[in-house]
Amino acid sequence: MPAKKYKSMTMAPHFIHGGDYNPDQWLKSKDIIWSEDMRLAKLAHINEFSVGIFSWVNLEPEEGVYTFEWLDEVMDMIAGNGMHVILAMPSGAKPAWMSQKYEEIRRVDENRQRDLHGKRHNHCMTSPIYRQKVLEMNTRLAERYKDHPALIAWHISNEYGGQCHCELCQAEFRKWLQARYGSLENLNHAWWTSFWSHRYTDWSQVESPSPRGENSVHGLTVDFKRFTTDRFIDFFNWEIKPMRLLTPDIPVTTNLMGMYEGIDYFRLGEQLDFISWDNYPQWRNDGGDLEVARGAAFCHDLMRGCGDQKPFMLMESSPSPTNWQSSARLRRPGVHKLLSLQAVAHGSDSVQYFQYRKSRGSYEKFHGAVIDHEGSGNTRIFREIADLGEVLQKLEPVLGCGIDAKAAVIFDWENRWALSEAKGFLQDKTGYEETVLAHYGALREMGIPVDILSQDKDLSGYRLVVAPMCYMLKNGFADKVRAYVRHGGQFVATYISGYVDDSDLCFLGGFPGPLRDVMGIWNEEIDALYPGQKNAVLWNNRAYEVHDFCEIIHTEGAEALGFYRDDFYAGSPALTVNSFGDGKAYYIAARTENKMLHDFYTRVTASCGIEPVLQGELPQGCEVVCRTDGKDRFVFLMNFLGNDARVDVGQGGVSLLTGAKLSGEVLLKPYGVEVYKA
Ligand code: GLA
Ligand code: ZN
Repeated sequence: MPAKKYKSMTMAPHFIHGGDYNPDQWLKSKDIIWSEDMRLAKLAHINEFSVGIFSWVNLEPEEGVYTFEWLDEVMDMIAGNGMHVILAMPSGAKPAWMSQKYEEIRRVDENRQRDLHGKRHNHCMTSPIYRQKVLEMNTRLAERYKDHPALIAWHISNEYGGQCHCELCQAEFRKWLQARYGSLENLNHAWWTSFWSHRYTDWSQVESPSPRGENSVHGLTVDFKRFTTDRFIDFFNWEIKPMRLLTPDIPVTTNLMGMYEGIDYFRLGEQLDFISWDNYPQWRNDGGDLEVARGAAFCHDLMRGCGDQKPFMLMESSPSPTNWQSSARLRRPGVHKLLSLQAVAHGSDSVQYFQYRKSRGSYEKFHGAVIDHEGSGNTRIFREIADLGEVLQKLEPVLGCGIDAKAAVIFDWENRWALSEAKGFLQDKTGYEETVLAHYGALREMGIPVDILSQDKDLSGYRLVVAPMCYMLKNGFADKVRAYVRHGGQFVATYISGYVDDSDLCFLGGFPGPLRDVMGIWNEEIDALYPGQKNAVLWNNRAYEVHDFCEIIHTEGAEALGFYRDDFYAGSPALTVNSFGDGKAYYIAARTENKMLHDFYTRVTASCGIEPVLQGELPQGCEVVCRTDGKDRFVFLMNFLGNDARVDVGQGGVSLLTGAKLSGEVLLKPYGVEVYKA
């Protein structure tokens, strides 16, 4: 999509630098701690606090008794110090008195066991009582702070996730199914329930999936995930009612979790005024960080995609160790800046942390934070944060800029759910996420900007659309692909595409179903190899190793470019291209080594005039991203390895970090970053 300058998400005229702040954990020592918090924030160039995310019990310690005075003081204090607040609705964790009094607000798990009180993120999304309590609380917050000068956005709940299987949710699920299918007969057909005698004869028999009950009807499992997404959307819209009414100009968001599987973020994203998300890459301090950085880049691009390519907010990140990861590795000097600017490079207009001050007790007392238990700003991490705060000030021209991507990769939650259910192929190892990342990675290694789309998004602005493992073709997608290719687009599909429709029913008449004509092939069989077994594709005068999946396909108008080397299907096509209208559709029939994807995309992007950000080859471990408003171009260079790297920037430009003129080879120190205006 052509890049442009977007309006700032929150009206703040600068990068937001701050994060989760829990002053209510320190009410007993607030006189010392809170003023230290403000003093240190200024030293760290922090300008925002996300407040009240888990504060329900401190706002309503007993039913109907409200104690907002401490929050008034915090809001005033932050405003008085010239900083901003993203104020939270506290529904992410319910107080004990409420759980105790109202059993129905506690979630029921898939084994039909109701939670005891504890932890968080575990309320029922349907319970009328919880909804009423949330509405009362949120109304009070909106009324009280709607005109507060510190307020710049609403943070709705926290990291929505999980499922509820209580009777209230079951009843909603049945209603949802009635609306979707109209009749039990349609539902039975869509779910193919004559199989194993699973046909329903009354709506009341339909239950959400369970390890103890129904888990073999794939249509049911996929539908329950769709329903759960809709439950969260419904709950979100319930939560924000008072905000929409009382503060129509203050944007609302909820913090997402990247590739989290349980909610279709493209759909939830449509509800948010801007996307915000929590990034916790499992940094290792070894060569494995290349993969970690690739995964983080993908998540940033995915999150941007969920917000229609507009800038997003990095709502949380750890400035150093993350307590829940299997090894809470420290980030070497410089890595904090590198990972933070990677988010900015991919479209974030903020860098925010979990957490500002380390809590003294309980679950997160050893999680990275801006202020350590030691209490002064005299720590390595604090200095790195302060340094980053200064860097963000220098990057202000980048604020609001988009990414000009001519290539897109499809990543679709419903397809993902359907694939993870499918039995056959390689059982639990279909590797959808890894495959999407491999194709994305091949393009990104070349320095090509990439947007991530769901099957529902518009394809027309792109020159290349890559749709790895589109097993489920959602309604309308095949027609869209056909029109896109007919009008000159380049489309890439792979093995395991076009197997099932929106209801998870197999296409009759040959795979890849309704893509058969545009791909110009018929996929007759798929061979799933054991781990360690290999075949090869002969293409372009060399043999590329393939593993896991080999489809046996027949050309029907397409031209065969590559062929299998081994087995009884040796010599049959494995890579094809079909000219269709003014465009081309490529089919990669086997899971190949990455080198083949690299060589393939080098040719395909060149053939359709897609330019990398920089002309020269990027050194291993380096990433290049460009943010632009269509006029100015801001190029981010990043080195994710512990050795020096030299990047050829050609004519280059002026560094936003140092003011130096850069051209030719630029040296990136280990974990180094450079940003210049081209
Ligand atoms: C999540 C939550 C935060 C905190 C962090 C710790 O992202 O939203 O409240 O628990 O994890 O990494
Ligand atoms: Zn429920």
